[in-house]
Amino acid sequence: MNIVILTGAGISAESGLATFRAADGLWEEHRIEDVATPEGFRADPALVHRFYNERRAKARAARPNAAHEALARLQGDPRHRVTIVTQNVDDLHERGGASAVIHMHGGLETALCAACGHRWPAPAEMAPADPCPRCARPATRPDIVWFGEIPYRMDEIAEALEAAELFAAIGTSGNVYPAAGFVELAAATGARTIELNLDASSRSSVFDEARRGPATQLVPDWVDALIG
Ligand code: OAD
Repeated sequence: MNIVILTGAGISAESGLATFRAADGLWEEHRIEDVATPEGFRADPALVHRFYNERRAKARAARPNAAHEALARLQGDPRHRVTIVTQNVDDLHERGGASAVIHMHGGLETALCAACGHRWPAPAEMAPADPCPRCARPATRPDIVWFGEIPYRMDEIAEALEAAELFAAIGTSGNVYPAAGFVELAAATGARTIELNLDASSRSSVFDEARRGPATQLVPDWVDALIG
């Protein structure tokens, strides 16, 4: 079966990584506009680098959980073709054994040159004056898709959604587009749709089925039923 899985911050929550929409509307004590927009980066690049350096350190110290590992198991089943699309910038899917994960919002483990587009492995600490290893200009930025920027690999994602027979959204609040609209794109070409989330998301009513609970329980149960 062709399966497309969209994951969000909720799948990494039980690995100890904070989700985005805390009750106070802040992300690790920062306003989203300050740390996750091109304007925020222009205004204070040192602050934005420090913020992502911290996220990188936390992600490196975290361990994949039973939900990441279950998705890797599903991907390893030769009866299914599984595309994992994540909004997460951590690499816990990969460290949990998954391969070919589409990071539509970028990742903490690469650095990007805003001047020439070159990418290289991110050091633990990045700073605004770091020169690009290819063009030498001091235009280093986190390889993160910020609000107002276009998510990565949208053509591949659209193709996978069109071919999907089953679409699952896991641990995502459904507040950020285009990812929040993937459920409709998959359903339009006939996919069955399921949401696995701790609580109701803003998109729950659009899914054929919605299950509530922690990802480390819901996801292994769902995968076990699929692979028998
Ligand atoms: P959110 O923080 O908006 O939503 C996380 C969802 O996970 C919520 O609906 C929670 O109920 C759910 N959740 C929390 N703990 C869970 C658990 N243990 N098991 C299952 N579900 C759990 O995160 P995203 O939807 O991923 O973009 O946010 C989308 C994008 O907005 C992010 O990629 C980021 C952000 O701003 C960028 O940085 C560009």
